[in-house]
Amino acid sequence: MRVLLLGAAGQLGQHLQAACPPSLELSISSRSDARHPCDMSDRKAVIGLLDTLKPDIILNAAAWTAVDAAEEHPEQAYRLNAELPGWLAGWCKQHAGGLITYSTDYVFCGQPDRAWRENDRPDPRSVYGQSKLEGEQQVAASGAKSAVIRTAWVYSHLPGNFLSAILARAADGQPLKVVADQQGSPTWAGDLAAVTWALLSRWHRLDPGTTLFHAAGATPLSWHAFASLAVSYAGKAGRIAAPVAVEPIDSSQWPQRAERPCWSVLDSSRIEYITGHSMMTADQALEACLKQWRPTPS
Ligand SMILES: NC(=O)c1ccc[n+]([C@@H]2O[C@H](COP(=O)([O-])OP(=O)(O)OC[C@H]3O[C@@H](n4cnc5c(N)ncnc54)[C@H](OP(=O)(O)O)[C@@H]3O)[C@@H](O)[C@H]2O)c1
Repeated sequence: MRVLLLGAAGQLGQHLQAACPPSLELSISSRSDARHPCDMSDRKAVIGLLDTLKPDIILNAAAWTAVDAAEEHPEQAYRLNAELPGWLAGWCKQHAGGLITYSTDYVFCGQPDRAWRENDRPDPRSVYGQSKLEGEQQVAASGAKSAVIRTAWVYSHLPGNFLSAILARAADGQPLKVVADQQGSPTWAGDLAAVTWALLSRWHRLDPGTTLFHAAGATPLSWHAFASLAVSYAGKAGRIAAPVAVEPIDSSQWPQRAERPCWSVLDSSRIEYITGHSMMTADQALEACLKQWRPTPS
C-alpha cells in the first residue's frame, strides 16, 4: 500500500514517520523536503504531487497550527485547514484513494458533564477552530473514504509545543505560571501516531464516506496539573536539574488573542474500539515522551 504523508516535518509528521509499519510504502512531503517539496497552500502543486505519486492513502499532518496568528491571517488558516483537506478528499474521491486528516478540540465550546463525543454539536469560537471545522465538512462533502481524527493538546520532545516550552524554562530554573481553569486531554504525538497506524491497519472496517474520530490522551488534566506532572517526571528522569515551582493562574491572567475552549476533554472510545489501541494515560505518555528528550544545545 502506497502512503503519502504530508506535513512530514511537523511534530505529528515526525512521529508518524518514526512509527510507520515497514510493510507500507511511505513517501513524505514537507515544504522543504529534498525529494517531494510542496507548498500545501498551492492547489496546483498539491494536485501535481498526488498525480505523480498516486498514493492509495494520504495522511495529512500539514495544517496552519498558529492559533493566535490565525485571527490575523484567516485566509492562510482557511487555505491550509479547510481548503487543503477538501482538495485532498476530492482527489481521493476521483482516484479511489483514502484520506486520514486531523482536526481539533477547538471546534467545541462549553462544558458538558462528560468528555466530548464525535456527535456533539461543534461551536468553534476561534478562526483556527472554525477553519478546522470547515475542513471536516469539506472532507465529508467529498464522499471520499476518509477519517477525520480530532485530537487535543498535542505535545512531544520536539520544539514548539507546550511541554517543550515549559521544560525549557524549568531547565533554566525559572518558576512557571500556568493556566488552571482550562481542562483538556494532553496527547503525546507518539501515541497519536500509533493510533493512526492502527486505524490504517483496520481501514477495511471503515464505512464508505467520512468517519469522525476523537483520539486524545486518556487522562483529563488542567494545563496547570499537566505542567506540574511534567515537571515532576522531568525531574525524576533527570531531564531538568531540579523541580521548579508551578503556580496556578486563571486564563484572564494569561490573555491570548484567540479564545480557547475551557473544556477540551475528548472521548476516544470510538477509535479505541475500532483499533484495539488504548490511548495512553498522562503518566505512560510522559514517561515515553521524556525518553526521547534531547537536551537543547547551550
Ligand atoms: N498541536 C496541537 O496541540 C494540536 C491540537 C489539536 C489538533 N492538532 C492538529 O494535529 C495536526 C498535526 O499538528 P502538529 O502539532 O504536528 O502541528 P505542527 O507541528 O505545526 O505541524 C504542521 C506542519 O504543517 C506544515 N505546513 C504548514 N503550512 C504549510 C504549507 N503551506 N506547505 C507545506 N507544509 C505546511 C508545517 O510546516 P513548516 O514546519 O514548514 O511550517 C508543519 O510541519 C494538525 O492538523 C493540527 O491542526 C494539533
